[in-house]
Amino acid sequence: MHTHDSERDHAAFKHLVRCKFLTTELIADILRESALMARVLNFRNDPGIVDYRQRVRQTFWDNGITVASLFYEESLRTRWSHERAAHALGASVISTENAAKFSSAAKGESLEHAIQVISGLHCPSEGYADIVVMRHPTEGAAKRAMKFCGVPLINAGDGIGEHPTQAILDLFAIERKLGRIQDFTIALIGDLLNSRTIHSLVYLLAKYPGVKIYLVSDPRFSIKHDLREYLVRNHVWFAEKNRPEDFREVMAIADVVYMTRVQKNRFDMNDEAEAARYREIRGVYIVGRELADAMKAGSFLLHPMPIETDNTEGFPPEIMTEVDDHPHAYYFQQAGGGIPTRMAIIKMLLENWGRIERIAPPERAAA
Ligand code: NCD
Repeated sequence: MHTHDSERDHAAFKHLVRCKFLTTELIADILRESALMARVLNFRNDPGIVDYRQRVRQTFWDNGITVASLFYEESLRTRWSHERAAHALGASVISTENAAKFSSAAKGESLEHAIQVISGLHCPSEGYADIVVMRHPTEGAAKRAMKFCGVPLINAGDGIGEHPTQAILDLFAIERKLGRIQDFTIALIGDLLNSRTIHSLVYLLAKYPGVKIYLVSDPRFSIKHDLREYLVRNHVWFAEKNRPEDFREVMAIADVVYMTRVQKNRFDMNDEAEAARYREIRGVYIVGRELADAMKAGSFLLHPMPIETDNTEGFPPEIMTEVDDHPHAYYFQQAGGGIPTRMAIIKMLLENWGRIERIAPPERAAA
């Protein structure tokens, strides 16, 4: 039986489970391929990409590539952008949006057993899928699944653990808008403890020279200890800002402001102490038009989305709707980048397994 060693598999880019072990060379390749995939999506206006698009779609189709999207936890963007990416590549998709309820997990089946069957670990030509995109409520679930997965596994979020494809699309957005992914200042704001997008993004940001990271949160919701140690060990410039008044100050000096949602779904709202903790921080970090106006010229606002607009406690959204059409708002465009980045990731993983042949980019790919 072929099982996997996590660090080696990350270096060889056989799975995408955590960001820590990705090299900057590999990330550069993913971003380059993503830019190409953005052109593929825009093929009607880009004659230079038509032949490449045709070759990609032909390869996926001829090999009968099937992408499984296996979601044990709620999602809109992550699931659909992977599925849209698969379709745009010429792959088929099999999907369950509520695996916790509608898969045999509800009958007590283990994740390990399900993954072995789906990925055809014991009978490779009779697996259900050539690549698995999985979201799960438990931290570490993706790493567990990877060990029993006979095809590439993409972690689409494991509890409060990581969300690597989100961090890659975040970098893609920064590169597109800022023109570089080094030598800039970023403010990460909100629930830094429970936000898996933050964890993955910090691991990526730490790899680039000249990135200054402001971590703005209530002290009870600051980044996890191991992540802080990682930043220290790697000599990354970072500053933790825990007073509410720091918020405005940092917003005005950052090139990139990355807001997060207070991860209400990770709180037990039936527990009075936890619910009180939620209420204490929920209203502190809110960006309205006035704060958006105070942002530095050329800077922009990111958010992994969803923004919590409907809130039974009566709190405003963490980015108020009035900011949506502000010149500094870039979160809708950021989300759009989810499709080309996921196309790139799916294609590269399948190439690395030899499941499809490498498809040469068009000449002058960056044209
Ligand atoms: C994020 C997630 O699921 O972690 N959503 C997403 O995938 N874009 C962020 C969040 O839910 O706050």
